[in-house]
Amino acid sequence: MKRIGILTAGGDTPALNATIYGAVERANALRIEIFGLPRGYAGLLDSRVPHVHLNPLFTAIPELDPYRGGTLLGSSRTYLDETNKDDLVLVAANVHKLKLDGLICIGGDGTINGMQPIAEILPCVLAPKTIDNDLGLNYIDEANEWDRHPIDGTPKFREELLRLRDSIELEDILNYATPGFATAVFVVVQSIERLRTTAESHRRVAIVEVMGRQSGYIALGAAYAQPDIILIPEIPINPEQLIARVVQLYELQQHAVIVVGEGVRNADGTELGAALPTFDPAGNVHYNGAADAIGRMLTNALGDNVFGEMRAFESGASSVFIRKIGHTQRGGRPILFDRFYASQLGGKAVDLLVSGESNEIATLQYERASGFRVGSISANKLRDQWGEIHPRTVHPSFYDAKRMLLSPIGIDYLHPIFTNAIGADDIENIRTQMFSAGSVRNRYQSVNTDIRKRFRIV
Ligand code: F6P
Repeated sequence: MKRIGILTAGGDTPALNATIYGAVERANALRIEIFGLPRGYAGLLDSRVPHVHLNPLFTAIPELDPYRGGTLLGSSRTYLDETNKDDLVLVAANVHKLKLDGLICIGGDGTINGMQPIAEILPCVLAPKTIDNDLGLNYIDEANEWDRHPIDGTPKFREELLRLRDSIELEDILNYATPGFATAVFVVVQSIERLRTTAESHRRVAIVEVMGRQSGYIALGAAYAQPDIILIPEIPINPEQLIARVVQLYELQQHAVIVVGEGVRNADGTELGAALPTFDPAGNVHYNGAADAIGRMLTNALGDNVFGEMRAFESGASSVFIRKIGHTQRGGRPILFDRFYASQLGGKAVDLLVSGESNEIATLQYERASGFRVGSISANKLRDQWGEIHPRTVHPSFYDAKRMLLSPIGIDYLHPIFTNAIGADDIENIRTQMFSAGSVRNRYQSVNTDIRKRFRIV
């Protein structure tokens, strides 16, 4: 193996540069060249084949900073469709032009679906990333439990996960946590702590929407901020139960904090945040409005009656406020847990290619006795019987639907990730950098400006 390509696809995370850095450092040790391809699969589909040599003389270029969020290669949701033969011919030609012996795709479930046809052209491995933490399986057979039902009168079908196991052990989980998730939760927890005190002062109900699509892991992680209620997409909302609990909380403490995963749904399966569905190029729905829908539900049900007494002279509607944490979750400096394991997984991806693997995923495994270790799994294990790879969802046993909070095993799941997730340098960085005098004096220096000077075309 002399030369490896690397790309970052899908929504970015704070830990992408750390993964690239881990791959480059490992490649340096093995005297392998690493070429970065811009903007995910879009770069591979460009006939000029833009690329950047990330380790000339087997030394990482200075723009590659593992402490910096985002990706110096850029990312996109451009999707590689295996039925489009022209695209695959173009990819094969571009791989040939660059003389690549292997490819590392850094991404999540969308990226690995896109990687499947490329793995027929050259050896490919996936280094995982996603703030949603939805890449992997709750247990080894889970992918075989997907079922399809035709939708009458259409060529479409409805997919259903049969969920044959009621309980799981933490050791069963394949790819326990994914780089990007811990930093996203770190941002969410800080935000909720800040929203809490203002909701408390003004006797309001704060509804905080977090990302994660159909998976409620980020909402679960929000538990560290002690919200009063957590709603996750995996467990349908029960409006009566929710309203009754908010009334109870409001009587007790004159405010409440509710965390809502953006993909939450009703008992009939309707996703509250997908009322006006718009989609990205990979076919993922853009969620927009789950927290607003819950807010309307509470205002209509409780309005001036319940809130009026405590908040005389103010309207019922102003008692509820909605905040979306939004893309803040995806940006900025990665915390220690993400940096450390992202770089390990990047290095593992190189090792997998060198040892002759293809269509393999580097994973982070956990055992109670020994902690985390880097491993791998064939992408095929994640495919259902029709070949599709689905996002992993939170196992229902992690959630206590009666309390609308985490179950004991849900709590156990979080601790290994978060107990030492923040490094002393993360705190020191805030102390020394946040109000640095240089920041006020100088313009922001974008990595895009510098890296562009290094890009070459063929
Ligand atoms: O998949 C990562 C993610 O951040 C989701 O949590 C979120 O729904 C989506 O990407 C947002 O995508 P976009 O970058 O298109 O706004």
